Amino acid sequence: MIIAIDGPAASGKGTLGKRVAAHYGLAYLDTGQLYRAVARDTLAAGDDPTDAAAALKAAQALNPQSLDDSSLRTPELGEAASLVARHPQVRETLRAYQRTFAHRTPGAVIDGRDIGTVICPDADVKLFVTATPEERARRRYLELKQNGAEVTPNEVLADIEVRDERDQNRATAPLRMAEDAVLLDTTKLDIDAAFRVAIDMIDAAMGHAGQAG
Ligand code: CDP
Repeated sequence: MIIAIDGPAASGKGTLGKRVAAHYGLAYLDTGQLYRAVARDTLAAGDDPTDAAAALKAAQALNPQSLDDSSLRTPELGEAASLVARHPQVRETLRAYQRTFAHRTPGAVIDGRDIGTVICPDADVKLFVTATPEERARRRYLELKQNGAEVTPNEVLADIEVRDERDQNRATAPLRMAEDAVLLDTTKLDIDAAFRVAIDMIDAAMGHAGQAG
């Protein structure tokens, strides 16, 4: 069973994805961490994320063991990740890892920008999770502050708007809702409410409506 979750920056895909995976006993992959790690390694080598050859080298050498790292969650790496994510060869290099992960037994929840459209067009269920830019910025600001980051709400909103624009308008695998995805707008939902709606949507899509716990 493959559940694909896509959506813009700070839409809550990660928190939701983890809880959905635990609920169904599936593995979970946050593909944003792949792009953030490629960005980290590109910068650590002294290279520019806009340099396609340098980013490709980092993607080819990526150590999947280095993904589960909270130091990847900074605004700087989010920005650099969206720059390395524009290079088609970087995306192609990361594709096999994502597809292998998705097809494991008994299944996986995998979140990102192009999961339902490019990585797993055959996913059993596709959710597109979104919220207004203001609400996403509010949540991300609180998360960053909790982690001790020095940011202002306006900086966070500006960062989200730049990344949304870049992710939606890039030539390769832009962020967009798959035609067969279900839209989940979490603007007015807290995480528990969003989780319950997601489970109802997934059960309905799987033909098991009403069996959610
Ligand atoms: O957590 P947040 O929503 O801020 O971002 P993320 O999911 O960690 O992704 C960081 C950046 O990686 C995004 O802005 C995208 O440019 C890129 N990305 C992508 O292109 N494709 C994916 N499947 C996942 C992330």
